[in-house]
Amino acid sequence: NTSMVKSKFLSNPEDIGVVAVGFSGGQNPGLLSQLQDELNYKLHGDSQVNAYNDLVPKEDPPFRNMKNPGTVSAVTQRLAEQVYSHAKEGRMVLTLGGDHSIAIGTVAGTAKAIRERLGREIAVIWVDAHADINTPETSDSGNIHGMPVAFVTGLAKEEKPEYFGWLKPEHLLSVSKLVYIGLRDVDAGEKRILRENGIKAFSMFDIDRYGIGRVVEMALAHIGNDTPIHLSFDVDALDPMWAPSTGTPVRGGLTLREGDFICESVHQTGNLVAVDLVEVNPSLAADREAEAHETIRAGCSLVRCALGESLL
Ligand code: ARG
Ligand code: MN
Ligand code: MN
Ligand code: MN
Repeated sequence: NTSMVKSKFLSNPEDIGVVAVGFSGGQNPGLLSQLQDELNYKLHGDSQVNAYNDLVPKEDPPFRNMKNPGTVSAVTQRLAEQVYSHAKEGRMVLTLGGDHSIAIGTVAGTAKAIRERLGREIAVIWVDAHADINTPETSDSGNIHGMPVAFVTGLAKEEKPEYFGWLKPEHLLSVSKLVYIGLRDVDAGEKRILRENGIKAFSMFDIDRYGIGRVVEMALAHIGNDTPIHLSFDVDALDPMWAPSTGTPVRGGLTLREGDFICESVHQTGNLVAVDLVEVNPSLAADREAEAHETIRAGCSLVRCALGESLL
């Protein structure tokens, strides 16, 4: 018996296109074999984590305050092509990362493929402690993992092809089709961007106030119920109690069960077309082995929930 991704926008519900990026982490040992051997999905694409060393330029000086701009641009451009080719076939695309900057490529690839295949715009549900919507100019850190949403929405623009100028209109996401869940560490400049663009965002305050059930209901209502969904899940949305091995942990986050509930609810819409699970970095943890193991377990749980495996 083969498991199936129940989504009306997929043509091969038992197929999963896998993209695994070893770019500051990304390892999720065991998840792919669970999907393939235990749950009998047909996996296509990466069977191991890809480091993309061939794409790293010899020199990569900062540009507009961005760190490693040439490397991140080249890798995300390649990822966009990989995601695009899976999504173009009507496969659900699962990307395992790695730094959240990789979502520049994954969202771009999904957006382009769904436009071409179905003539529709995608929606993105961004589950994260952070908004990741800095422009190069508003960012204090210069880390591109704090900027992917600005690039894929066109709020950050750059002409030079070697610095994300490869992003074309068909790759972009409309700000009205973006919704956040889990925010609790948003920079001042990002708050201004969210406000000025009327972007829908549910913070931890909203989750405490309304409960996760109502928040997810409101988030899905915002998107509308006939829209292909790309779920970009930063594992740091979970409380570090559940996912300690990540680059920028923030206390006061989602319980594992709340994270799983978001994934299950998105699965139940029947509109899911792509999932990113990012910022899983087993090398970052004080008590490395135990904490890495917990983080990986949490990641496996989230993906299984997004595939509907936990539902009756
Ligand atoms: N807002 C901070 C920055 O722009 C933190 C971003 C964290 N993002 C992440 N994907 N871990 O640098
Ligand atoms: Mn990162
Ligand atoms: Mn984050
Ligand atoms: Mn993030």
